[in-house]
Amino acid sequence: MSLSALIGAQWGDEGKGKITDTLSCDFDYVVRYQGGHNAGHTLVVDGKKIVLHLIPSGILHERVISVIGQGVVFDPRSFYQEWQEVNQHIKVDESRLKISLNAPVITTYHKLLDACRDEQNDLCIGTTKKGIGPCYESKIARMGLKIADLFCKATLQKKLEYSLKEYHALFTHLYQVDIPEISTEVQELYELGQFLKPYVSDTFSLLHQAQQENKNILFEGAQGILLDIDYGTYPYVTSSNTCLFGVHTGAGFLGSSFDRVYGIAKAYVTRVGEGPFPTEMFDDLGEAIQKKGNEFGATTGRKRRVGWLDLPLLRYAVKTSGLTHLCLTKVDVLSQMPSLKVCHAYEYEGKVHRDVYPGFPLEKAKPLYQELQPFEDTFESHDFSPQLQSFLDLVEREINIPISHVAYGPQRKQIFQKTN
Ligand code: IMP
Repeated sequence: MSLSALIGAQWGDEGKGKITDTLSCDFDYVVRYQGGHNAGHTLVVDGKKIVLHLIPSGILHERVISVIGQGVVFDPRSFYQEWQEVNQHIKVDESRLKISLNAPVITTYHKLLDACRDEQNDLCIGTTKKGIGPCYESKIARMGLKIADLFCKATLQKKLEYSLKEYHALFTHLYQVDIPEISTEVQELYELGQFLKPYVSDTFSLLHQAQQENKNILFEGAQGILLDIDYGTYPYVTSSNTCLFGVHTGAGFLGSSFDRVYGIAKAYVTRVGEGPFPTEMFDDLGEAIQKKGNEFGATTGRKRRVGWLDLPLLRYAVKTSGLTHLCLTKVDVLSQMPSLKVCHAYEYEGKVHRDVYPGFPLEKAKPLYQELQPFEDTFESHDFSPQLQSFLDLVEREINIPISHVAYGPQRKQIFQKTN
């Protein structure tokens, strides 16, 4: 049996879907444990582009069972759309996709509130406007719907009425927007519930049973460690625990230890939305990397901000989630760029800081760079140039874990397994 996790080590969009897809061959279960359809995992299979938002990336392997755990905030409307799209490529039936009956449900009201807040306030986070934050809030306030509630109209009506008492005041007086009638929301959610029913089950017991049977289980994170609600760059974060411990609350693996925890990082850094970004590039080279890397959000289409690889933040990611291996993606994007730099430390208040901690004022940190020899690899063979090899060696030395995979393109085959 092996228990492994795969986690974004930066601000999301690191290429987790591709790595999950590669590793899935060795696993019986692939499990999502946090986030929602704010995630966008892009995979290219047989030349076709598939974007997954809620469904775990293991779905493309027929022998893998994909599980959506109770820590995922679940939008039934978005799921229905994604289910239809994925079904054009591979049959998604109830024997291969299991959804926790205890996952919180995203309603139309959550989405509306998310959009109103982000658009009508000065401190705008730049959310994906998918209702993620408001749905997690409803859960914590003990006012939210769970998937099991979708199967009973009376429960839906009662719970929505309860939460709408407060929402009504917000929507009518503060944000001044019209909201859909409760009866419409109840009916639509109920119908979606009927569609979902065959997929919904007690995933907690399912996974414990799998563990008893010595199955191999991979937990697939969404977003990235720097967007974690507790360990990320608050308030510019998402509303869930993207770190390793999200697995415990989001899928129920208390007390189990992991064989491997893969951190996924790009060879540079990107970020969508607002928030501090010490190594952000504002020059032509940054623009060239953004273009070559096709850095647009898979969920919102927004242009991603781009910067040099940031080792203090990567070391922080290793610590917060106990990463054992690093998968470095999009290395090809840096090839043939005229210069190559990495940030090895920051200067802040007259001191050099190699390491950061939760709450470290990143917006005031000045990045200190090491200039490296640029590389021009074409990746036709797996013999890396001495320049690329020194870049990889430097990263391994600085973060003190091995690089297990190097990805150099969107295709399944464009990945090199460097260590076991
Ligand atoms: P929310 O998750 O929609 O609430 O957005 C909060 C912040 O997380 C925003 O800055 C988003 O751009 C960012 N974010 C959420 N999901 C992703 C993702 O999958 N990739 C990158 N950034 C994300």
